[in-house]
Amino acid sequence: MRFAEKVALGYAYGTSLLAWMVDGPPRPFSATFAVTNRCNLRCSYCNCPSLDPTHLDLARVDVLFDRLRALGVRRLGLAGGEPMLRRDLPDMIAAAKRRGLWVSVNSNLTLFARHPGRLAGADLVYTSLDGEEDAHVAARGDGAHDGVLDAIGRLVRGGTPVIAICVVTEHSTTQLPALFRQADALGFRLHFQPQCTDAEIVRGAVTVPNDALRAFWRELVAEKRRGRPIVSSTAYLETLAAWDDFGVSAYTEPGTRCAAGHGFLYVDPLGRAHPCAYTKGKTAPVDLLADDWRATWSRDTPCTRCSVGPMLEFNLLFQRPLASALASARTYG
Ligand SMILES: C[S@@+](CC[C@H](N)C(=O)[O-])C[C@H]1O[C@@H](n2cnc3c(N)ncnc32)[C@H](O)[C@@H]1O
Ligand code: SF4
Ligand code: SF4
Repeated sequence: MRFAEKVALGYAYGTSLLAWMVDGPPRPFSATFAVTNRCNLRCSYCNCPSLDPTHLDLARVDVLFDRLRALGVRRLGLAGGEPMLRRDLPDMIAAAKRRGLWVSVNSNLTLFARHPGRLAGADLVYTSLDGEEDAHVAARGDGAHDGVLDAIGRLVRGGTPVIAICVVTEHSTTQLPALFRQADALGFRLHFQPQCTDAEIVRGAVTVPNDALRAFWRELVAEKRRGRPIVSSTAYLETLAAWDDFGVSAYTEPGTRCAAGHGFLYVDPLGRAHPCAYTKGKTAPVDLLADDWRATWSRDTPCTRCSVGPMLEFNLLFQRPLASALASARTYG
Protein backbone atom coordinates (compact mmCIF):
# COMPACT_ATOMS: atom_id res chain seq x y z
CA MET A 1 0.00 0.00 0.00
CA ARG A 2 1.39 3.44 -0.91
CA PHE A 3 2.11 5.92 1.90
CA ALA A 4 -0.62 8.35 0.76
CA GLU A 5 -3.16 5.50 0.73
CA LYS A 6 -2.13 4.46 4.23
CA VAL A 7 -2.63 7.99 5.51
CA ALA A 8 -6.02 8.34 3.78
CA LEU A 9 -7.21 4.97 5.04
CA GLY A 10 -5.91 5.61 8.56
CA TYR A 11 -7.67 8.98 8.65
CA ALA A 12 -10.94 7.48 7.38
CA TYR A 13 -10.77 4.69 9.96
CA GLY A 14 -9.93 7.16 12.78
CA THR A 15 -12.86 9.40 11.84
CA SER A 16 -15.15 6.39 11.65
CA LEU A 17 -13.97 5.12 15.04
CA LEU A 18 -14.45 8.52 16.67
CA ALA A 19 -17.96 8.88 15.25
CA TRP A 20 -18.82 5.41 16.57
CA MET A 21 -17.34 6.06 20.02
CA VAL A 22 -19.37 9.24 20.52
CA ASP A 23 -22.42 7.62 18.90
CA GLY A 24 -22.40 10.31 16.21
CA PRO A 25 -23.72 10.01 12.65
CA PRO A 26 -22.50 6.80 10.95
CA ARG A 27 -19.29 7.33 8.95
CA PRO A 28 -18.32 3.96 7.43
CA PHE A 29 -14.71 3.83 6.25
CA SER A 30 -15.14 0.48 4.50
CA ALA A 31 -17.78 -0.99 2.19
CA THR A 32 -18.29 -4.30 0.48
CA PHE A 33 -20.18 -4.12 -2.80
CA ALA A 34 -21.55 -7.35 -4.23
CA VAL A 35 -21.28 -6.51 -7.93
CA THR A 36 -23.51 -9.47 -8.83
CA ASN A 37 -25.16 -12.45 -7.14
CA ARG A 38 -24.56 -14.57 -10.23
CA CYS A 39 -21.89 -17.24 -10.07
CA ASN A 40 -20.42 -20.00 -12.21
CA LEU A 41 -20.10 -22.29 -9.14
CA ARG A 42 -22.51 -23.71 -6.55
CA CYS A 43 -20.52 -24.04 -3.31
CA SER A 44 -22.25 -26.13 -0.65
CA TYR A 45 -22.34 -23.32 1.93
CA CYS A 46 -23.23 -20.34 -0.28
CA ASN A 47 -26.65 -19.15 -1.42
CA CYS A 48 -25.64 -16.16 -3.57
CA PRO A 49 -26.33 -17.90 -6.91
CA SER A 50 -30.00 -18.43 -5.87
CA LEU A 51 -30.55 -14.72 -5.19
CA ASP A 52 -31.79 -12.01 -7.57
CA PRO A 53 -29.47 -12.12 -10.63
CA THR A 54 -29.96 -8.47 -11.62
CA HIS A 55 -27.38 -5.80 -10.90
CA LEU A 56 -26.52 -2.12 -11.44
CA ASP A 57 -25.03 -1.06 -14.75
CA LEU A 58 -21.70 0.79 -14.83
CA ALA A 59 -23.30 4.26 -15.00
CA ARG A 60 -25.20 3.62 -11.78
CA VAL A 61 -22.15 2.00 -10.17
CA ASP A 62 -20.38 5.32 -10.82
CA VAL A 63 -23.10 7.17 -8.91
CA LEU A 64 -22.94 4.57 -6.12
CA PHE A 65 -19.19 5.09 -5.76
CA ASP A 66 -19.72 8.86 -5.48
CA ARG A 67 -22.23 8.25 -2.67
CA LEU A 68 -19.87 5.86 -0.86
CA ARG A 69 -16.99 8.30 -1.16
CA ALA A 70 -19.17 11.11 0.21
CA LEU A 71 -20.03 8.90 3.20
CA GLY A 72 -16.33 8.63 4.06
CA VAL A 73 -15.62 5.20 2.54
CA ARG A 74 -11.95 4.69 1.59
CA ARG A 75 -11.72 0.91 1.43
CA LEU A 76 -13.90 -0.94 -1.07
CA GLY A 77 -14.28 -4.69 -1.42
CA LEU A 78 -15.80 -5.84 -4.70
CA ALA A 79 -17.40 -9.22 -4.07
CA GLY A 80 -20.38 -11.29 -5.16
CA GLY A 81 -21.43 -13.77 -6.35
CA GLU A 82 -18.53 -14.04 -8.73
CA PRO A 83 -17.28 -10.57 -9.80
CA MET A 84 -15.23 -11.96 -12.69
CA LEU A 85 -18.48 -12.79 -14.50
CA ARG A 86 -18.83 -9.05 -15.14
CA ARG A 87 -16.84 -7.93 -18.16
CA ASP A 88 -16.97 -4.35 -16.84
CA LEU A 89 -15.16 -5.35 -13.62
CA PRO A 90 -11.94 -3.54 -14.66
CA ASP A 91 -14.01 -0.40 -15.32
CA MET A 92 -15.50 -0.66 -11.83
CA ILE A 93 -12.03 -1.08 -10.31
CA ALA A 94 -10.79 1.94 -12.27
CA ALA A 95 -13.84 4.00 -11.24
CA ALA A 96 -13.16 3.20 -7.58
CA LYS A 97 -9.44 3.98 -7.92
CA ARG A 98 -10.26 7.36 -9.54
CA ARG A 99 -12.11 8.21 -6.33
CA GLY A 100 -9.10 7.35 -4.20
CA LEU A 101 -10.50 4.09 -2.88
CA TRP A 102 -8.29 1.14 -1.92
CA VAL A 103 -9.84 -1.80 -3.79
CA SER A 104 -9.88 -5.52 -3.10
CA VAL A 105 -11.71 -8.11 -5.20
CA ASN A 106 -13.05 -11.48 -3.97
CA SER A 107 -13.00 -14.07 -6.72
CA ASN A 108 -13.03 -17.85 -7.00
CA LEU A 109 -10.42 -17.34 -9.79
CA THR A 110 -11.79 -20.16 -11.97
CA LEU A 111 -12.35 -17.63 -14.78
CA PHE A 112 -8.91 -16.02 -14.49
CA ALA A 113 -7.26 -18.11 -17.23
CA ARG A 114 -9.90 -16.87 -19.71
CA HIS A 115 -10.09 -13.27 -18.49
CA PRO A 116 -6.88 -12.30 -16.64
CA GLY A 117 -7.43 -8.61 -17.44
CA ARG A 118 -10.64 -8.45 -15.41
CA LEU A 119 -8.69 -8.08 -12.16
CA ALA A 120 -6.45 -5.33 -13.53
CA GLY A 121 -5.88 -2.52 -11.05
CA ALA A 122 -7.03 -4.40 -7.92
CA ASP A 123 -4.89 -3.64 -4.87
CA LEU A 124 -5.51 -7.07 -3.36
CA VAL A 125 -7.27 -10.24 -4.45
CA TYR A 126 -9.08 -12.49 -2.00
CA THR A 127 -9.77 -15.95 -3.30
CA SER A 128 -11.17 -19.15 -1.81
CA LEU A 129 -9.21 -22.27 -0.96
CA ASP A 130 -10.47 -25.08 1.24
CA GLY A 131 -7.40 -27.32 0.89
CA GLU A 132 -6.16 -29.92 -1.61
CA GLU A 133 -8.24 -30.35 -4.76
CA ASP A 134 -10.40 -33.21 -3.39
CA ALA A 135 -11.33 -31.31 -0.20
CA HIS A 136 -11.89 -28.06 -2.11
CA VAL A 137 -14.14 -29.80 -4.66
CA ALA A 138 -16.05 -31.65 -1.91
CA ALA A 139 -16.95 -28.26 -0.38
CA ARG A 140 -17.26 -26.17 -3.53
CA GLY A 141 -18.26 -28.54 -6.36
CA ASP A 142 -16.83 -29.88 -9.62
CA GLY A 143 -14.57 -27.45 -11.45
CA ALA A 144 -14.12 -25.22 -8.38
CA HIS A 145 -10.38 -25.92 -8.19
CA ASP A 146 -9.68 -25.59 -11.92
CA GLY A 147 -6.99 -23.02 -12.59
CA VAL A 148 -7.09 -21.55 -9.06
CA LEU A 149 -3.48 -22.30 -8.05
CA ASP A 150 -2.16 -21.18 -11.47
CA ALA A 151 -4.12 -17.94 -11.16
CA ILE A 152 -2.79 -17.27 -7.65
CA GLY A 153 0.77 -17.88 -8.87
CA ARG A 154 0.32 -15.50 -11.81
CA LEU A 155 -1.21 -12.78 -9.67
CA VAL A 156 1.49 -12.99 -7.00
CA ARG A 157 4.28 -13.02 -9.59
CA GLY A 158 2.65 -9.99 -11.24
CA GLY A 159 2.78 -8.06 -7.95
CA THR A 160 -0.85 -8.41 -6.77
CA PRO A 161 -1.03 -9.76 -3.21
CA VAL A 162 -3.42 -12.68 -2.72
CA ILE A 163 -5.19 -13.83 0.43
CA ALA A 164 -6.96 -17.19 0.26
CA ILE A 165 -10.06 -17.58 2.42
CA CYS A 166 -10.67 -21.05 3.86
CA VAL A 167 -14.18 -21.76 5.15
CA VAL A 168 -13.87 -24.06 8.15
CA THR A 169 -16.02 -27.14 7.50
CA GLU A 170 -15.74 -30.91 7.74
CA HIS A 171 -13.82 -30.73 4.43
CA SER A 172 -11.17 -28.20 5.45
CA THR A 173 -10.39 -29.00 9.10
CA THR A 174 -7.88 -31.68 7.96
CA GLN A 175 -6.26 -29.41 5.39
CA LEU A 176 -3.91 -27.14 7.33
CA PRO A 177 -0.65 -28.83 6.24
CA ALA A 178 -1.72 -28.67 2.58
CA LEU A 179 -2.81 -25.03 2.84
CA PHE A 180 0.45 -23.94 4.50
CA ARG A 181 2.46 -25.86 1.89
CA GLN A 182 0.58 -24.18 -0.97
CA ALA A 183 0.86 -20.75 0.65
CA ASP A 184 4.63 -21.11 1.08
CA ALA A 185 5.08 -22.41 -2.47
CA LEU A 186 3.01 -19.71 -4.18
CA GLY A 187 3.53 -16.75 -1.84
CA PHE A 188 -0.05 -16.10 -0.73
CA ARG A 189 -1.49 -15.68 2.77
CA LEU A 190 -4.48 -17.29 4.47
CA HIS A 191 -7.62 -16.14 6.23
CA PHE A 192 -9.91 -18.63 7.94
CA GLN A 193 -13.62 -18.10 8.54
CA PRO A 194 -16.25 -20.18 10.33
CA GLN A 195 -19.06 -21.58 8.22
CA CYS A 196 -21.75 -18.96 8.64
CA THR A 197 -25.39 -20.07 8.85
CA ASP A 198 -28.85 -18.54 9.02
CA ALA A 199 -28.49 -15.66 6.56
CA GLU A 200 -29.98 -14.99 3.12
CA ILE A 201 -26.59 -15.21 1.40
CA VAL A 202 -25.57 -18.60 2.87
CA ARG A 203 -26.93 -22.13 3.05
CA GLY A 204 -26.12 -25.42 4.77
CA ALA A 205 -25.48 -26.38 8.37
CA VAL A 206 -22.38 -26.82 10.53
CA THR A 207 -21.60 -30.54 10.94
CA VAL A 208 -18.32 -30.47 12.90
CA PRO A 209 -18.81 -30.71 16.72
CA ASN A 210 -18.14 -27.55 18.69
CA ASP A 211 -15.24 -29.10 20.68
CA ALA A 212 -13.45 -30.08 17.47
CA LEU A 213 -13.98 -26.61 16.00
CA ARG A 214 -12.65 -24.86 19.11
CA ALA A 215 -9.59 -27.16 18.98
CA PHE A 216 -9.09 -26.22 15.31
CA TRP A 217 -9.17 -22.48 16.11
CA ARG A 218 -6.74 -23.04 19.02
CA GLU A 219 -4.42 -24.80 16.58
CA LEU A 220 -4.61 -21.77 14.30
CA VAL A 221 -3.63 -19.47 17.20
CA ALA A 222 -0.57 -21.67 17.76
CA GLU A 223 0.27 -21.82 14.03
CA LYS A 224 0.05 -18.03 13.74
CA ARG A 225 2.44 -17.68 16.70
CA ARG A 226 4.79 -20.07 14.85
CA GLY A 227 4.88 -17.55 12.02
CA ARG A 228 2.59 -19.23 9.48
CA PRO A 229 1.20 -16.85 6.80
CA ILE A 230 -2.17 -16.34 8.52
CA VAL A 231 -3.67 -12.85 8.16
CA SER A 232 -6.57 -13.48 10.55
CA SER A 233 -5.75 -11.48 13.69
CA THR A 234 -4.83 -13.21 16.94
CA ALA A 235 -7.79 -11.55 18.71
CA TYR A 236 -10.10 -12.95 16.02
CA LEU A 237 -8.65 -16.46 16.25
CA GLU A 238 -8.84 -16.38 20.06
CA THR A 239 -12.46 -15.22 19.97
CA LEU A 240 -13.33 -18.17 17.75
CA ALA A 241 -11.31 -20.60 19.89
CA ALA A 242 -13.73 -19.66 22.69
CA TRP A 243 -16.93 -19.55 20.57
CA ASP A 244 -19.70 -21.47 22.33
CA ASP A 245 -21.86 -22.81 19.52
CA PHE A 246 -20.78 -22.59 15.86
CA GLY A 247 -24.35 -23.43 14.82
CA VAL A 248 -25.21 -19.89 15.98
CA SER A 249 -23.34 -17.35 13.86
CA ALA A 250 -24.77 -14.21 15.49
CA TYR A 251 -26.82 -13.15 18.50
CA THR A 252 -27.64 -10.14 20.64
CA GLU A 253 -25.46 -9.77 23.72
CA PRO A 254 -26.68 -7.15 26.21
CA GLY A 255 -24.09 -4.42 26.67
CA THR A 256 -22.23 -5.15 23.41
CA ARG A 257 -22.39 -2.67 20.52
CA CYS A 258 -21.85 -3.73 16.92
CA ALA A 259 -20.11 -1.32 14.54
CA ALA A 260 -21.90 -2.59 11.41
CA GLY A 261 -23.47 0.31 9.55
CA HIS A 262 -21.40 2.79 11.55
CA GLY A 263 -17.89 1.69 10.57
CA PHE A 264 -18.57 -0.59 7.62
CA LEU A 265 -21.45 -1.60 5.40
CA TYR A 266 -22.56 -4.01 2.71
CA VAL A 267 -24.11 -2.97 -0.59
CA ASP A 268 -26.10 -5.51 -2.59
CA PRO A 269 -26.00 -5.75 -6.41
CA LEU A 270 -28.87 -3.25 -6.75
CA GLY A 271 -27.13 -0.59 -4.67
CA ARG A 272 -29.11 -1.18 -1.48
CA ALA A 273 -27.04 -0.85 1.67
CA HIS A 274 -27.24 -3.12 4.70
CA PRO A 275 -25.20 -2.84 7.94
CA CYS A 276 -23.39 -6.05 6.97
CA ALA A 277 -23.86 -8.95 4.55
CA TYR A 278 -25.33 -11.17 7.27
CA THR A 279 -28.17 -8.69 7.92
CA LYS A 280 -29.43 -8.78 4.32
CA GLY A 281 -33.07 -9.80 4.51
CA LYS A 282 -33.21 -9.13 8.27
CA THR A 283 -33.41 -5.33 8.35
CA ALA A 284 -34.76 -2.72 5.95
CA PRO A 285 -32.08 -1.76 3.40
CA VAL A 286 -31.34 1.80 2.23
CA ASP A 287 -31.23 2.49 -1.52
CA LEU A 288 -27.97 4.43 -1.75
CA LEU A 289 -28.86 5.78 -5.20
CA ALA A 290 -31.93 7.48 -3.76
CA ASP A 291 -31.37 8.03 -0.05
CA ASP A 292 -28.67 9.14 2.37
CA TRP A 293 -27.44 6.32 4.62
CA ARG A 294 -26.84 8.66 7.57
CA ALA A 295 -30.34 10.10 7.48
CA THR A 296 -32.25 6.96 6.50
CA TRP A 297 -30.65 3.99 8.26
CA SER A 298 -32.56 3.00 11.43
CA ARG A 299 -29.23 2.45 13.30
CA ASP A 300 -30.50 -0.96 14.44
CA THR A 301 -28.64 -4.19 13.89
CA PRO A 302 -30.41 -7.52 14.41
CA CYS A 303 -27.48 -8.84 16.47
CA THR A 304 -24.43 -7.44 18.30
CA ARG A 305 -21.98 -10.34 18.42
CA CYS A 306 -21.04 -12.71 15.62
CA SER A 307 -18.54 -15.24 14.37
CA VAL A 308 -19.00 -14.10 10.76
CA GLY A 309 -15.46 -13.96 9.34
CA PRO A 310 -14.95 -10.46 7.94
CA MET A 311 -17.50 -8.85 10.27
CA LEU A 312 -15.83 -10.14 13.42
CA GLU A 313 -12.49 -8.71 12.24
CA PHE A 314 -14.15 -5.36 11.46
CA ASN A 315 -15.90 -5.29 14.83
CA LEU A 316 -12.60 -5.92 16.61
CA LEU A 317 -11.22 -2.81 14.88
CA PHE A 318 -13.89 -0.84 16.74
CA GLN A 319 -14.13 -2.80 19.99
CA ARG A 320 -10.35 -3.18 20.54
CA PRO A 321 -9.08 -0.40 18.29
CA LEU A 322 -5.44 -0.08 19.28
CA ALA A 323 -4.39 -3.73 19.14
CA SER A 324 -6.53 -4.49 16.08
CA ALA A 325 -5.41 -1.43 14.11
CA LEU A 326 -1.76 -2.32 14.74
CA ALA A 327 -2.38 -5.93 13.66
CA SER A 328 -4.21 -4.73 10.55
CA ALA A 329 -1.43 -2.28 9.65
CA ARG A 330 1.09 -5.13 9.91
CA THR A 331 -1.07 -7.34 7.67
CA TYR A 332 -2.06 -4.88 4.96
CA GLY A 333 0.70 -2.27 5.27
C1 LIG B 1 -19.57 -15.10 -1.30
S1 LIG B 1 -17.92 -15.38 -1.85
C2 LIG B 1 -17.71 -14.23 -3.17
C3 LIG B 1 -16.40 -14.30 -3.89
C4 LIG B 1 -16.10 -15.48 -4.77
N1 LIG B 1 -17.22 -15.95 -5.49
C5 LIG B 1 -15.42 -16.58 -3.99
O1 LIG B 1 -16.02 -17.63 -3.80
O2 LIG B 1 -14.27 -16.38 -3.58
C6 LIG B 1 -16.92 -14.62 -0.56
C7 LIG B 1 -16.34 -15.60 0.40
O3 LIG B 1 -17.38 -16.09 1.26
C8 LIG B 1 -17.13 -17.45 1.51
N2 LIG B 1 -18.37 -18.08 1.95
C9 LIG B 1 -19.41 -18.48 1.21
N3 LIG B 1 -20.36 -19.05 1.98
C10 LIG B 1 -19.91 -19.00 3.25
C11 LIG B 1 -20.43 -19.41 4.50
N4 LIG B 1 -21.61 -20.04 4.62
N5 LIG B 1 -19.69 -19.17 5.61
C12 LIG B 1 -18.50 -18.56 5.52
N6 LIG B 1 -17.95 -18.14 4.37
C13 LIG B 1 -18.65 -18.37 3.24
C14 LIG B 1 -16.60 -17.96 0.21
O4 LIG B 1 -15.88 -19.16 0.34
C15 LIG B 1 -15.70 -16.82 -0.24
O5 LIG B 1 -14.39 -17.00 0.23
S1 SF4 C 1 -18.78 -18.94 -2.50
FE1 SF4 C 1 -18.25 -17.72 -4.30
S2 SF4 C 1 -17.85 -19.28 -5.86
FE2 SF4 C 1 -19.00 -20.29 -4.29
S3 SF4 C 1 -21.14 -20.16 -4.92
FE3 SF4 C 1 -20.72 -18.45 -3.53
S4 SF4 C 1 -20.21 -16.78 -4.84
FE4 SF4 C 1 -19.99 -18.65 -6.05
S1 SF4 D 1 -23.13 -8.74 15.02
FE1 SF4 D 1 -23.04 -6.97 13.67
S2 SF4 D 1 -21.50 -7.48 12.14
FE2 SF4 D 1 -22.12 -9.37 13.13
S3 SF4 D 1 -23.75 -10.19 11.88
FE3 SF4 D 1 -24.74 -8.95 13.48
S4 SF4 D 1 -24.96 -6.93 12.56
FE4 SF4 D 1 -23.48 -8.03 11.30
